[in-house]
Amino acid sequence: MDTIQQVLADVRRGMIPAHIYNDAEIFELEKERLFSRAWMFVGHESEIPQPGDYVVRRVLEDSFIISRDEQGTIRALFNMCLHRGMQVCRAEMGNASHFRCPYHGWSYRNDGRIIGLPFHKEAYGGEEGFARKGATLLPAPNLANYNGLLFVNMDPDAMPLDEYLGDFKFYLDYYTKQSASGIELRGPQRWRIKANWKIGVENFAGDMYHTPQTHTSVVEIGLFREPKAEKRKDGMTYWAGRGGGTTYKLPPGDLEERLAYIGYPPEMIERMKQLWSTDQLQLIGEDAFMISAASLFPNMSFVHNWPKVEEEGDEVVPFISLRMWQPVSENETEVMSWFAVDAEAPEEFKELSYKAYLMCFGSTGMFEQDDVENWVSLTNTAKGSMARRLLLNSRMGMLNDGTPVVPALTREEFSGAGSAYVGYSEHNQRNFLQEWADHLEKPPVVAPSHAVGITNGQLDQYSSKGA
Ligand code: FES
Ligand SMILES: [Fe+2]
Repeated sequence: MDTIQQVLADVRRGMIPAHIYNDAEIFELEKERLFSRAWMFVGHESEIPQPGDYVVRRVLEDSFIISRDEQGTIRALFNMCLHRGMQVCRAEMGNASHFRCPYHGWSYRNDGRIIGLPFHKEAYGGEEGFARKGATLLPAPNLANYNGLLFVNMDPDAMPLDEYLGDFKFYLDYYTKQSASGIELRGPQRWRIKANWKIGVENFAGDMYHTPQTHTSVVEIGLFREPKAEKRKDGMTYWAGRGGGTTYKLPPGDLEERLAYIGYPPEMIERMKQLWSTDQLQLIGEDAFMISAASLFPNMSFVHNWPKVEEEGDEVVPFISLRMWQPVSENETEVMSWFAVDAEAPEEFKELSYKAYLMCFGSTGMFEQDDVENWVSLTNTAKGSMARRLLLNSRMGMLNDGTPVVPALTREEFSGAGSAYVGYSEHNQRNFLQEWADHLEKPPVVAPSHAVGITNGQLDQYSSKGA
């Protein structure tokens, strides 16, 4: 096999060693150097609105209880009992004032503090043998919130979430802040696909090129108002901070007309105008671009689209979806997909928007089915020996000397954050893999260990043997 240095060098020139899409050693490196350091989406605060509400979410193999405690503070608690390590909470979501471990019955408040330890006195000699005071389920090293999106980071020395997101926040707002109340979620729907996690991330980040081919039938049946999928090449792809995405070019008109064209009712448009920055509004109103799919490094994606949901007429309804590509192994991914909608949207809009989401990108969505067959097949083919000899050309949109085929949009043409190019290209896939390569080059994360139930840190050697 190539050395990892060779793999990263190839990736950096836009040539992808095909085996990175199904390689156990690479997956181990990703766990050690990438997922251990990146900010990982674990849920949205609207999923746990009341004290005691919780959801259980994973960061790779680590299970966390994301709970809202009695004071209303959101916590990310490592879901492992402090006694012998049983998984404390086995339900996926619910409301609880405390969690009791099924093994020996230790129990914890929903802020993680230990509350019940059966036979504390008889078995441990009370506080002197095991200090309950100060003992809590291990908190995630970092937990942070942007527009209600909750992220965990496993690196004690992580950079702040705000800095990590960088200019991608400009685009995140379109998906997650259409009114001051933010979004509410339904879901997640969960399913597993036998595909490497990176493929979906790259697709959502910038693959406008696959739409005319992979999704021909969806266009044929008239799910979209645009008669031709090639329309996608009129859109631009942007990369900003640690994420990037695709857009559609909108027809002539002003801001209101364009937002109405994709199905937003006047009252929602009014709220967007109140909330979004001048540049955010100009990207739509002046530059005529509407955000569509996007990915945030490493494994979170977004969709915004506007299909026809009724047989009759030409009406379209927009929907927003968030998703996680949760890696299970080098060739399996759990997809978690949420429907998101502005919390202040009219009820009727919410219902139709949900329908639009399900038709396109729910577990049975038409786009979903088209896409996944490609990705499973790609993953399978990446496993063999021939794939180890193949460097995939991922240089679309760039000439041999590195200059872009089409120049980047200028400040006059583009009010958005980051850099943007009109037309088909793989700028974003390359940006994603650059970030990936940067992470794989870093040393493993070092984190301290936590000792449980000890007050002064000084222990005598155990002496039960033969005593
Ligand atoms: S492992 Fe949880 S109480 Fe024993
Ligand atoms: Fe697709």
